[in-house]
Amino acid sequence: PSKLSRRNYTAEKVRCGTSKQVAVVGAGAVGSTIALLTMMKNVASEILLVDKAKDFALGQTWDLADANIVNSTKVRQGTLKQAGQAEVIVIATGAKQQPGESRQQLIDRNYEMLKETIDGMQPIQKDGVMVLVTNPVDTLTLIAQNISGLPRNQVFGSGTYLDTCRLTVYLSDLFNISPSCIHAYVLGEHGDSQFIAWDAASIGGRPLNSFPEIRQLDKETVRLAIANKAMDIIDYKGSTYYGIGACGASICESILRNALNIRPLSVYVKEFDTVLSIPSKLGAKGIEQIMPVPLSPGEHKQLMESAATLRAIGERYQK
Ligand code: 2OP
Repeated sequence: PSKLSRRNYTAEKVRCGTSKQVAVVGAGAVGSTIALLTMMKNVASEILLVDKAKDFALGQTWDLADANIVNSTKVRQGTLKQAGQAEVIVIATGAKQQPGESRQQLIDRNYEMLKETIDGMQPIQKDGVMVLVTNPVDTLTLIAQNISGLPRNQVFGSGTYLDTCRLTVYLSDLFNISPSCIHAYVLGEHGDSQFIAWDAASIGGRPLNSFPEIRQLDKETVRLAIANKAMDIIDYKGSTYYGIGACGASICESILRNALNIRPLSVYVKEFDTVLSIPSKLGAKGIEQIMPVPLSPGEHKQLMESAATLRAIGERYQK
């Protein structure tokens, strides 16, 4: 037993004008990596770590607090009720994929968990922004939009932001160019039916499709490699958490700084009556605007297929 009092690590929100609290529900590898990287960005006054496994969460909280030597973010253990009052609520709890399992196969296990988590947070403060990370992220985002009581634009998922990062890393290696100069999106489902919006992609302002390196590529092979990268990592090390951790922290930063970045996120698209990833402007109020990119006829067909897949799954979980 430690001499440090547990009370010192219990959330007590400082209610001053500059208080910016991020609650991370789920203290496992994904949640704690999001917490760590958000803390390193120095954008939150406080991070609450919430988990049913209270001793584990306390251990994670203490460990994270020890990493906080350069900035002023406090890390504390919190409850679901307290999480419901945070400016940003990240949901990273639930079962993860096993080798050979698709994200959609997690739905029954994670559906109940999500309902319990959101019920435990009620009443959620009306300006809160809820970010879903748990898989299958598109379907769980739709469910969270239906049950949280928050406006739809304040509830969204990390979606294909991670797949887009994977594509950016691939293109950055292929062209030996900084990832920051590459604009290329993976859209649709964060799952098997995702697709790459090649037509709208560019490097340094030049259309990606005009590069000979791209014309020589088998684009379906690239799409599959990006879509299956999580499974490859899971085969080698059991789970993924650094990539999604960086995406989660970047999303928290965009919200807390009102950065108005464009990110491919799981958002409700009226036209398709489902949640899937489309480039979206992200700021303090959540999704400020959905910003579709021009697609080739083939890409548009892939988008429709992704939407049909997700709509069919979502319909089974409507209230
Ligand atoms: C990932 O893509 C498993 O969804 C997680 O890394």
